[in-house]
This record gives sequence, structure tokens and C-alpha cells, in this order.
Amino acid sequence: MKVGEVKRSVRLDKLLSDQGIGTRSEVKELIRKGRVKVNGETVRRPELSVTESDTVSVDGEELRRASFEYWLLYKPAGFLTAVQDAGRPVVMELIPSKRKGLSPVGRLDLETEGILLVTDDGLLAHRLLSPKYHVEKTYYAELASDLPADAAERFSRPMEFSDFMAAPAVSFEELEPRAARLTIAEGKYHQVRRMFAKIGCEVVTLRRESFGFLTLEGLKPGEARSLTEKEVRQLREVCRMMEHGE
Ligand code: URA
Repeated sequence: MKVGEVKRSVRLDKLLSDQGIGTRSEVKELIRKGRVKVNGETVRRPELSVTESDTVSVDGEELRRASFEYWLLYKPAGFLTAVQDAGRPVVMELIPSKRKGLSPVGRLDLETEGILLVTDDGLLAHRLLSPKYHVEKTYYAELASDLPADAAERFSRPMEFSDFMAAPAVSFEELEPRAARLTIAEGKYHQVRRMFAKIGCEVVTLRRESFGFLTLEGLKPGEARSLTEKEVRQLREVCRMMEHGE
């Protein structure tokens, strides 16, 4: 190694879970069972430090260090949350990358605009969507009629639908008689529109302003940007903390 050159090291279990092999506890189990080798030697310590020059294999198969892409899109209304469609514009047309395997994390309705994460990191996407991880999403809604006086009170209680029970909203803010901001930690189909319908208000404009700690700041409708390395680390950290119930 040249003087001054620093090789970044990472814990073996973190490397394996970041590469999508499994959750942190699943990969620890794999390591303990002796299914993981580093430079041809079976290792049983999840905390072992490895660097880029180490060869890691799982069940005899060498790990290709995948690098994932993470995009944040300001989805405009009128774009379908899909990879492709016969005829209608889809969100993937707005992502400046040809990487195969990229897909939206969750979905926004055709007429909903706002923040949408797009990645080929399947494990992270799966975690962010899991109800277990409770990622908070904030929506700005414009309504066809005035909010009822008891709107805040009704959103603070569970709401029963024919197919599911919505948890109490994380927060609700009346901005104007016909505009509000609602934060929920779930993502059932049409959930926000259905919650407003339940209190007698039809949503005419819906914009997702944030997804976890990610916001629309700096983006205009139709624009996408790559997540920074710091943001990717933060997203992984959020998932790790939730996995451990912290
Ligand atoms: N809730 C909705 O009703 N629609 C969306 O697009 C997102 C959340």
C-alpha cells in the first residue's frame, strides 16, 4: 500500500447486509454457521473487518461488490409510477440513468405529485416499504370543501376502512379551510385520499413533501437528483435502527 493510502474497512456483517445478502441478523447467522469465507478461509466473527481487497464468498459464491443507484424524483402529476406502460408517460422516463433494475420505491397515484425514491437496491426498498419500519411520509392536500371542525381529532384516532384499519396520523396541520398537511407512517393504496374522504373532503391536489428525512428541497416537478453518500448511509442507518427497535 502506498504511504498515505487508506483502505476503507467495514464489518463483514455490514458488508453482507449492504450488499443485499440478508438482514443484519440473517447474515450474522450465515457467518456463525460457517457459510462465509474471507480470502478462502471460513470465518465465524460477524465483526471481522474487511477491506475492498479481501475476497468474500457466501456458500462458495464470490460476492460481487454491487454499487447501487439511488434517485430522488419530484414526480409530476400525470406520470404513472411504473417502469413502463403502453402509451402513458411513466416516472422512469424522468430518471437520467439507463441502469437495469431501477424501480420506484412504493407508488404515488397518477395524479399525485411529489417525492419518489427510485433505486435498484431491492433490500433497502423492501425495508423502506415494510410497515414494520414506519417510514413517515408528509402530504400536502388541497380539498374540494372545507375541513370539518373535528378533522384533527378524527385523524388522531385509528380510522376503519373495509379492508384495513389506519393507524392514527403522526401529525395533522390545518393550513387553510381547504388545505392541510398530513403525516402518516403507512402506505396503503389511496390511503391519504381515503382518509380525507372519510372526513367528508375530496382531495383535489396531493403532493408528497417528504419521505422519511428526504424532502423535495431544491427539486422542481420532473427533476431528479442522486442521493448523496451521506443520505444513503443515513437511510441505511434508519433501517438498521428500526430493525433493532431503537
Ligand atoms: N395516498 C394517496 O391517496 N395517494 C398517493 O398517491 C399517496 C398516498
